[in-house]
Amino acid sequence: MIALRSPQEIEKIYAACQVVAEILSRLEEHIRPGVTTLDLNDLSEDLAAQKKAKPAFKGYNGYPYALCTSVNEEVVHGMPSRKRVLWEGDIISIDFGVMIDGYYGDAAITVPVGQVSDEAKALCRVTEASLYEGIRQAVVENHLSDISHAIQSYVESRGFSVVREFVGHGIGRRLHESPQIPNYGPPGKGVRLKPGMVLAIEPMINAGRPDVQVLEDHWTAVTVDRQLSAHFEHTIAVTENGPRILTR
Ligand code: MF3
Ligand code: CO
Repeated sequence: MIALRSPQEIEKIYAACQVVAEILSRLEEHIRPGVTTLDLNDLSEDLAAQKKAKPAFKGYNGYPYALCTSVNEEVVHGMPSRKRVLWEGDIISIDFGVMIDGYYGDAAITVPVGQVSDEAKALCRVTEASLYEGIRQAVVENHLSDISHAIQSYVESRGFSVVREFVGHGIGRRLHESPQIPNYGPPGKGVRLKPGMVLAIEPMINAGRPDVQVLEDHWTAVTVDRQLSAHFEHTIAVTENGPRILTR
């Protein structure tokens, strides 16, 4: 069952999403060589506390941090560390969510650290654009997999590959609700989209092979070929007037 949110509920989700967007942009400004991924986590916790927002990831399935920080070949769920210092040329995905007044918002961006390679720039650009290709399909009466297919075809036509092991999701009263939203698949499958559905769409895109593995810490997912990976995510609402991006 996929929840259909009332306009009042969507405004509550929007309030959480706006805090997520603002904190991600503050974190982005803070990213430069010499900063550690734990610095970013601690900043996210301070900013969330100022907004009286509860970090959504901390404690989720035992995850110990507020923020996921995935550097270079790390795909998702990278754990902040005092020892992980950012260097010029790195790319870092920061993924953050909050709960306010019982409603959740979730978003992610990938940010270059100083000057990065042309390949890294292209990967980030294509990953973000693929998110918007997916969002463009989030219209009433489209099928769920129209989102998935739009992302996959955009990404693969540009020579990059789609991670299969992690997916987007419904969101609202919990961080993860149904449906699951793969970033690949044929068009025209799955449920039809209805006004009031709220979805977190989140392509994870690799420069090389699509395969990922989870490290011994049981969280950090990395590319098997250790090539770069990027991740962008927005929480959106399906409306009669088209998709509304709540985390902008
Ligand atoms: N934003 C991610 C997601 O959508 C990360 C959550 S996993 C967590 O699913 F355990 F870190 F919370
Ligand atoms: Co998510």
